[in-house]
Parts: sequence; structure tokens; C-alpha cells
Amino acid sequence: MHIIHVTAELAPIAKVGGLGDVVTGLARACLSRGHRVGVMLPFYECILKEQINDLTLITSYDSYHDGIWIPTNAYCGVVSGVTIILIEPSNQFFKGQSVYGGSYNELEAYLFFSRACLEWMQVTGTQPDIIHVHEWQTGALSLLYWDMYHYLSLKKPRIVLTIHNMEHFGECSKEQLSKCGLEGSVYASIDRAVDDRTVNHNPERLSLLKGGIVYSNAVVTVSPTYLKETLCSGWLSSTLIRNRDKYIGILNGIDTTIWNPASDVFLPAKFHAQNFEGKKLCKYYVQRGLGLATDDHVADMTLKVPLVVCITRLVAQKGLHLIIQAMKHVEKLGGQMIVLGKSTDGEVEREFEGLANLHNQGRSIRILLIYSEELSHILYAAADMVLVPSMYEPCGLAQMIGMRYGAIPVVRKTGGLADTVFDLDDQPNHEMANGFVFEGIDEVSLNWAMDRAFAYFRDKPDKWNRIVKKVMEIDNSWNNTAGKYVEVYDSVRTRW
Ligand code: GLC
Repeated sequence: MHIIHVTAELAPIAKVGGLGDVVTGLARACLSRGHRVGVMLPFYECILKEQINDLTLITSYDSYHDGIWIPTNAYCGVVSGVTIILIEPSNQFFKGQSVYGGSYNELEAYLFFSRACLEWMQVTGTQPDIIHVHEWQTGALSLLYWDMYHYLSLKKPRIVLTIHNMEHFGECSKEQLSKCGLEGSVYASIDRAVDDRTVNHNPERLSLLKGGIVYSNAVVTVSPTYLKETLCSGWLSSTLIRNRDKYIGILNGIDTTIWNPASDVFLPAKFHAQNFEGKKLCKYYVQRGLGLATDDHVADMTLKVPLVVCITRLVAQKGLHLIIQAMKHVEKLGGQMIVLGKSTDGEVEREFEGLANLHNQGRSIRILLIYSEELSHILYAAADMVLVPSMYEPCGLAQMIGMRYGAIPVVRKTGGLADTVFDLDDQPNHEMANGFVFEGIDEVSLNWAMDRAFAYFRDKPDKWNRIVKKVMEIDNSWNNTAGKYVEVYDSVRTRW
């Protein structure tokens, strides 16, 4: 099968969050199953060119935007073994120092990109079996395809949309939609179903994600529990219910060649489930490196200091008030905690900077307001626990990566966290039990989970080690779930 992903992010060259990791991981998993896979993404000015092999200009063509045809270049390259096509318009789109938040109109840029990808396939005669789009940024590709490209194509591709986060739905005006050549006013009627009058109660707004849901052949979201949650609440729920037959929840995987403590080049010591002595060294390395009290100062094993890490984008979704509360509580319990993350919101950034100034001189808390792939590997390896207190979490990768590196997850029961972490006290003998889970969004709920995790760590060291071994052996790789995507691809190919 020939699959082309069309996406705004791809790890490691243009990654902001989990979306980038997931596209790379899924593409590689399908490639290793013998499928032909390509990934199309914008040629951001900030893209990490040095990580692209064989970057070559392959096509110069024109693509439509706002009444004119824009000269556009397509480059081919290889990233982590996957062939990529980078689309570079000659206007200001995708220029700037970061993937998102440039000084151009983002919505119009992604509308342009969606059409430019189809135009490129048309110009070059590329005929994939599946076009796999992600998030609102490329949701409009399905509308564009059915509106103006489907009759031109010889072999009809099927379109699969993955929703990674329903909070972002590409709110758009009729005028903006018209700029990519779609008739905005046509799509603004209820029966064409792209609009929803509940968005800000403003009948002038359309949603590109909703368009993607209605016009794609299959819609996938990134965990079964998130699927249920989105059918029950949120302004898109009625659209999803109407499209229930083609809506499915598939848990993301992690790329276990990149996330492998036995061969991870970033780690000062490697380890695996059969022997995780190296993990102690990683912890010592981090404690020393960051000026935290080290375990070796504590001769009495029962006083060993548990190290909690929280590696996340600092946005409201991630439960910022609980992260702050966790730092207080961990300190009170005599543990250590490291937060690694960045925020795009100035106010949040300032709040965490204030906390960093307060705590970073001490011996137990560190707040590192940076994005660092390398450091994230080392911190997962050093951690005894990984905290994921999200308000909602479509899938979540941190808990899966943490487990692979022997860090026991402490999570809030929502979305993909509920599908991957099962409480040790709830079902002590249950074979799935692997972490600590709380439900409430208040500090008491969080404290209760942290207290239990700390008690296990301190009072039951043998049991703790057995759990560490167990979580490291859990298979959360794409081996488990890529096959489900292939089933979806197969089913949409034969359905019509
Ligand atoms: C988004 C979601 C996260 C998910 C990731 C990859 O970032 O918020 O839960 O793991 O996409 O699908």
C-alpha cells in the first residue's frame, strides 16, 4: 500500500509536541511492514535541515492562494529512514523562528499547504492509496480533494484523518476558506456540515477539523477512552456521533528504537528490564548535574529520595496547577522533582520562571524551562516516577516513555492515560496494574496518589523493583497498534 501522511509536524525536524513523534513512529512502523510511506510537510524556515538526508529540489510548480498561483518548490529528503516531501511556497508562509506562531496568517498558510500537497500529487502523477491527514491544519485537504481534485485522479485515494487533540479545531471564516479556492458560503450551510453554530455562537465561523471529520473516509482518535470522552462532550460531539461508524480510537505507540534505555546514546549508563543497575547511575548523574542531594548521601535505604519528573509542554491541558502542587507536596514528603518544559504563553512562562527562581537554589526541586530532547531522555532514565496530571489527555506519550525507562507513572485518569495506566492499589494482583491513578482535579486527589507512590517506594523496595521491571517490559510500541491503522487503511480501500 502507498500511504502519504500530510502533517504540520514531524520529529525530529519539526516537532512541537506528540504529533511529530506519532507521525514519525507510525510512518516507520508501516514502512517496516513493507508499505510505501511518504510524509509531506511545510518547509518551515526553522526546520532542522541538518537532520534531513539527501535534501533535493524535485519539483517547481504553482499552487493557488487567494486569487493567484504562487510559485512553489517541493524538496525530497529522508528523515529517520522515511521519505519526506517539503513544500516551500515563495511567499512569507512558514517563515519564522518556530514551527507555529510566525508572523503570517497560520490558518491561511495551512489551507494553502493542504491544497499545495494535492496540487503536487496532481502535477507529479503521484497516486497514493491513502492520504493520512492530521489535526485541523490538514483537515481541509479532504474537503479540497472532494471539491476539486477527485475527478482528476485516476486511482482514488482514501483519506484518513487522525485527531490528536480536539481542543484545536481550526476556526475559520468563510472568507479565509475561500482563499484556498473552496466556496466558503457553500460550506457554511448546515447540510455541508463544516460549520457549527455553537462555535462561539458565531455563525460566521467554520471549523477545518469538522470539515475533515465529515469529508474523510475514516476518522481516528489517539485512544479508545478519548474517543468515548469526545462522543459525550465538546462541541464536536454531535458531529462525531453522526459519523460514529467511521470513527475509531487507536492508541498511539512509542518508537522503541528511539526510546530504548538499552541503547540510548544520551544516557550516561544503559540499562534494561533484566538489569537496571544503570538506572541508578543515571539518577546519580542527574542529581549531581543539577545540584540535587544525591542518593549516596543517604546510607539508610528506607530514606532513599524518590525522584519525580514531569516532562511536558506547559499549557493548561497538562494540569499546571497540579504540577505546581506536586512540587510543594514532593518537597514536603522529602522527595525530589524536576519539571522540564516550555510554554508558548508568556504569563505561564513568567509564573514558572518565578517558581524556578524560588526553588532552583534548593536541593530538591528543579524547573528547567527549555525544550531539550536530550535532557528528556536522561530525565526519564533517572526518574523513579513520571507525573502526568493532565486535565485531559487524548493519548499522552510521557507515561509510556517513562515506563519504558523504568519510571512508575502517576497519572490522572483521563483519555489515553486511563488506557495505559492501572492503579496498583485498585487491583493489586491484576496483571495490568502498573502505576498510581487519581481522578479529581484538586490537590487532595493528587496528594493521595503521590502519598501512595512514595509509600510503595520507601516501604516496599522489593515490590517497587518488581514493578519497575514489569513496566519496562510492557510493550507500548507501534508493533502493537500500527496493525490497527493498517486495518483501517484496508477497510477504507475496500469500502467504496
Ligand atoms: C497531542 C495530545 C497528546 C497525544 C499527542 C500525539 O499532543 O495532546 O495526548 O499523545 O497529540 O497523538
